[in-house]
Amino acid sequence: KKVVVFISGGGSNMLALAKAAGEPGFPAEIVAVIADKADAGGLAKAAALGIPTHAFLRKNFDSKDAHEAAILAELDRLSPDIICLAGYMRLLSATFIQRHEGRIINIHPSLLPLFPGLHTHQRAIDAGMKVAGCTVHFVTEGMDEGPIVAQAVVPVVDGDTADALAARVLTVEHRTYPMALRLLAEGKVRMEGGRVVTRDVE
Ligand code: GRF
Repeated sequence: KKVVVFISGGGSNMLALAKAAGEPGFPAEIVAVIADKADAGGLAKAAALGIPTHAFLRKNFDSKDAHEAAILAELDRLSPDIICLAGYMRLLSATFIQRHEGRIINIHPSLLPLFPGLHTHQRAIDAGMKVAGCTVHFVTEGMDEGPIVAQAVVPVVDGDTADALAARVLTVEHRTYPMALRLLAEGKVRMEGGRVVTRDVE
């Protein structure tokens, strides 16, 4: 299966996906990385792995629609089976999502539906949570909404800072995202009528 990964930042999840995809027998291949920032650290990491990269800077377009139209045109050329959002910091429009319905997944560093959006780690700490984690979910129109494909849990420890918790969650993100991508690429998980349907998942 052909996969395009969207990033805005350091791209450590993109790298985890690319590493997994490089393993023998992995059912998906990263065919391109798309960024909305020219300085996204992940762009250099992808290029170093020989993965084609494309940067679409919002400021080079008059509107959100024009920005998305350019990205959609690139996707038409790439014709991916799966789109993985990996730290992509823009909300995709309904039009965009409908064009790739059921093909887009995202990773969010909280146990959704708890703490969607920004500052998720600090909010988990402030709420007195004893566990935190990450969620891979299908992308629907709401931010960090959409049916859940996979989750992983880490402890919150006494005196945790948002940064310390983020680092702990990130380590499980790097395992959970490739696992979720594998399930999707193997056709063991799909979205149907707004829900996740699984087949042969142990
Ligand atoms: C990750 O925590 C991801 O869950 C969140 O943004 C962070 C991106 O990190 N949405 P990276 O760019 O993959 O290193």
